[in-house]
Amino acid sequence: MAKMWQGRTEGKTSQIADDFNSSISFDSRMFKQDITGSMAHASMLAATGIIKDEEAQTLLDGLQSILDDLLSGALQIDASAEDIHMFVEQVLTERVGDVGKKLHTARSRNDQVALDLRLYLRDEIDVIEDLTKKLAKTVTNKAEENYDVIVPGYTHLQRAQPITFGHHLMAYVMMLLRDMDRLNDTKKRMNTSPIGSCALAGTTYPTDRGFEADKLGFDSVCQNSIDGVSDRDFAVELLGNLATLMMHLSRFSEEIILWCSWEFRFVELSDAFTTGSSIMPQKKNADMAELVRGKTARVYGDLMALLTVLKGLPLAYNKDMQEDKESVFDAVDTVKMCLTVFTGMVESMTVKPENMLAAAQNGFINATDLADYLVGQGLPFRDAYHISGQIVGYCIKEHQVLETLPLSVYQTFSPLFDENVYKAVDLVECVKRRRSFGGTAPESVLKQIEFAKNYLQ
Ligand code: ARG
Repeated sequence: MAKMWQGRTEGKTSQIADDFNSSISFDSRMFKQDITGSMAHASMLAATGIIKDEEAQTLLDGLQSILDDLLSGALQIDASAEDIHMFVEQVLTERVGDVGKKLHTARSRNDQVALDLRLYLRDEIDVIEDLTKKLAKTVTNKAEENYDVIVPGYTHLQRAQPITFGHHLMAYVMMLLRDMDRLNDTKKRMNTSPIGSCALAGTTYPTDRGFEADKLGFDSVCQNSIDGVSDRDFAVELLGNLATLMMHLSRFSEEIILWCSWEFRFVELSDAFTTGSSIMPQKKNADMAELVRGKTARVYGDLMALLTVLKGLPLAYNKDMQEDKESVFDAVDTVKMCLTVFTGMVESMTVKPENMLAAAQNGFINATDLADYLVGQGLPFRDAYHISGQIVGYCIKEHQVLETLPLSVYQTFSPLFDENVYKAVDLVECVKRRRSFGGTAPESVLKQIEFAKNYLQ
């Protein structure tokens, strides 16, 4: 049988070329969007008098029956069809006869595929945003449970200052809120309709692009038909957002992996989200977190693949653009899976406040507070910093800690020391004093939690 696109050629394409050219194995997942788009197109053709109302009704009924049958499984996707657009049109013509051939009036697969991808990603973006929101809520709840739990805060992975675990977790929530924000922002530019751009130049038919855009829930219509069929910025943006989101999950994963280690033992993951070893019976591995970290690489790769496909493409449509879909689909699937697993993992994670406190107690993370105390006693900060450094050096040599170093010893370093030094270096007090906006004090963390909860409502 001749191909639907067989215009000037007569010879048969080789099977190898057909297989190579086909995208049905991956674009069939857009069947709902393709059919919905075609329904809007049929309605527009009738509304503008390009086809008769009865013809449009026949097309609509036929398209609806295809959609129903694909959803119920009564109709199978034909793997030998070239792509989802050809498949639907072919089945439609088989079902409704010659009028089916009118559907493609004032349309091209170039604007059709651009439309389908926007519609598909518009739905997926909502799903991803929702999953991100669920994770953000879960992390916020964990933060609330641990809003005053003391843990070392790190810089350079060296113990730096005491913080609250809730504060640390809320840092991730802020990242996730930005991720949601970015997805929303991308949705605005994605929600512009390319349909009616036709092959590239627009059309001689009296179409109504606004009608079609409205029917499909778009906010606006692409202003330039050449751009309409060539633009994949919305997919690049989405992948950029997803790469950033995965970077956040990957950093979080890295920390969870560290915290689970016997060296830290800050948290324990539930049995449901860990694996054992086939040879070492003592093992409980954070495989889920490691996989999320690993899958981040895939999503970065997807972004790079898409950018590279588009780089150097002349206007307007080129078949290279068929290669846009697998990257985007892979990233979307990967991110949805990672968010779901991550949420379950964090939700069922047990926090070990005793171990966190023990780690905080032995690393001189209150040395800044010691210096601040001397500043309060009238010393300039630089001198206070210097004396505190000497005291820490002494303690390390003598196996002492700031919390219990005798006052008489403190006083050998400066006569300014009095009993209040113990309150100054008490970890609970250290944390409580950091009440600055966004700081680690429990009351400040509660404010951050409130902010996030409002955002997530
Ligand atoms: N399967 C094609 C794609 O995914 C549809 C567009 C085909 N357009 C064309 N001019 N060959 O890009």
